[in-house]
Amino acid sequence: MSSTAGATAPLVECRGLHAGYGSVAVVQDVDLQVMPGEIVALLGPNGAGKTTTMLTIAGELPPLSGEVSVLGDGSRRPLFRRARAGVALVTEERSVFMGLSTADNLRLGGVSFDTAVGMFPELEPLMKRRAGLLSGGQQQMLTLARALGRSPRLLLADELSLGLAPLVVERILDVVRAAANDHGVGVLLVEQHIKRALDIADRALVMRRGRIVLSGTPAEIRDQIGDVQSVYLAGAAPNAPSKEHCCPRAGAGGRDRCVDGSA
Ligand SMILES: Nc1ncnc2c1ncn2[C@@H]1O[C@H](COP(=O)(O)OP(=O)(O)O)[C@@H](O)[C@H]1O
Ligand SMILES: [Mg+2]
Repeated sequence: MSSTAGATAPLVECRGLHAGYGSVAVVQDVDLQVMPGEIVALLGPNGAGKTTTMLTIAGELPPLSGEVSVLGDGSRRPLFRRARAGVALVTEERSVFMGLSTADNLRLGGVSFDTAVGMFPELEPLMKRRAGLLSGGQQQMLTLARALGRSPRLLLADELSLGLAPLVVERILDVVRAAANDHGVGVLLVEQHIKRALDIADRALVMRRGRIVLSGTPAEIRDQIGDVQSVYLAGAAPNAPSKEHCCPRAGAGGRDRCVDGSA
């Protein structure tokens, strides 16, 4: 899926990105990179600016300033054009046709039965069932099968496991990890299940009030924020130094500095 020629080029590169609604920048000065085969978790409390960042990368929102390059293209292309080039956006809203069967959903998405069942064997006995009659977890497996079955180079996953049972979350995130490992898909992952996200991510960024305040490997992030859940519950990362102090090259090069600024 990923080409050898482009193996070292980032799939996403944001530099000094300001983004928001109208002229109001709710996301400020974001530097972020996603390399092929890499899962970058974008964490932070509600309202931090994660979805705004995602939507700007997806082409749904125009950047207010700064640079956004997606699949090597720095122009402002809408999502449907980026989708053709290999960008998939999956959100908590199940992207399935509820009145159609599982099989027809796959057919319409241009995804073969074998590909979908290879990813999610759970879908095999459900092929004739209307998507509207599937459980939330099954619908989201179908959504992800449709998205990954089209062989994207970049997956933007915004809380795709919202409201799902822990075992289903596990399955879905394992399939995301496998897509990165086996097919070189780059993934920007916004996920409420922070511990699971840190388990499968290669790097993580923590956003707060529109800015990236922490950046590093999952182990570094765990060390910095202690009980990672507190980032969400308290809306703040305890002991979190500011970006300026801790990670001058947040998100750069796929080889982040440690969150404490060491190499
Ligand atoms: N459509 C919108 N119009 C204006 N402000 C918005 C809109 N959507 C989100 N916001 C604001 O942008 C900020 C970041 O929101 P969002 O990116 O959705 O955060 P997150 O995904 O981290 O929860 C919040 O303060 C939110 O109120
Ligand atoms: Mg959001």
